[in-house]
Amino acid sequence: MRADFVANVSHEMRSPLSSLLGFIETLRGPARDDPEATERFLGIMEAEAQRMTRLINDLLALSKVETEEHIRPENVIELGAVLRQVAATQSVRAKERRMKIDLNLPEGLPNVTGEADELTQVFQNLVVNAINYGRPESAIRVEVSLRSVIPGTDDPGIAVAVINQGDGIPPTEIPRLTERFYRADKGRSRKMGGTGLGLAIVKHIIARHRGYLDIESIPGEETSFTVYLPQSIG
Ligand SMILES: Nc1ncnc2c1ncn2[C@@H]1O[C@H](COP(=O)(O)OP(=O)(O)O)[C@@H](O)[C@H]1O
Ligand SMILES: [Mg+2]
Repeated sequence: MRADFVANVSHEMRSPLSSLLGFIETLRGPARDDPEATERFLGIMEAEAQRMTRLINDLLALSKVETEEHIRPENVIELGAVLRQVAATQSVRAKERRMKIDLNLPEGLPNVTGEADELTQVFQNLVVNAINYGRPESAIRVEVSLRSVIPGTDDPGIAVAVINQGDGIPPTEIPRLTERFYRADKGRSRKMGGTGLGLAIVKHIIARHRGYLDIESIPGEETSFTVYLPQSIG
C-alpha cells in the first residue's frame, strides 16, 4: 500500500514538472522571439504549477487527517453555519458552469461534535465534485435532514446529501472512489484540475467524526454523496 502510494505521488508530480521543463526549453529555443507564444506558454506553465500546488496541499491535508483519525473531535458546532459558508464560497465556481447550489436546511437542527474546518473541507470537496462532474446548467442540491438512527450505529444524527445531475458513476467504480488517486474518469478529473485525493480526505474526516459516507449513482441521471454525522450528546 505504502510503496504504491509513493509511486503514485511521484507519478502525479512528474507530469506537471516535465511539462514545465518542456516549456522552459521551448521558451529558450524556438519561442524565443515570439511574444504571443511566450504569453500562451506562460499561462500553461502557471496552470501546471498550480496543479502541483493543489497536489501538495491535498497531500498535506491527507497526512494531517490520517494522523488525527483516532483523536476524537472536541468542539460542538452548528452544521448549518458550515454548510451556508460552503454554499456561499462555491457558488462562484458553480456560476462559471452556469450551475447553482440549492441548500435545503431545516430549522432547529441539533449540534454535532466536530471540527468546523475539517467538516468545511468535507462539504467543499463534495460540492466541488458536484460542480466538476455535474451537468452544466443544472442545479446542485444540498439536502439536510434529521435521522433517528444513522448507519453503523443506534444513535440519532444528521444526514447531508450533496446531489447532482450528470453522467454519474458506474456501480462497479463506487467502492473504490475513496481510495487515494482513484478516479472513475481520469481525463475529466485532469481537465477539471482534480488531484484524486478529495474523497480520500473526506473518508478520513468522516471516520474521525464517527460518521458514515453513502454514495449512490444512477448513471446519466443523478448522483448523491450522503454524509451521516452523529448528533452531539449533552
Ligand atoms: N459527483 C460526482 N459525479 C461523478 N463522478 C464523481 C463525482 N464525485 C466524484 N466522482 C469521481 O470520483 C473520483 C474521485 O474523486 P476525488 O477524490 O474528489 O478526486 P478528483 O475530483 O480530484 O478526481 C473523481 O475523479 C470522479 O471520477
Ligand atoms: Mg474532487
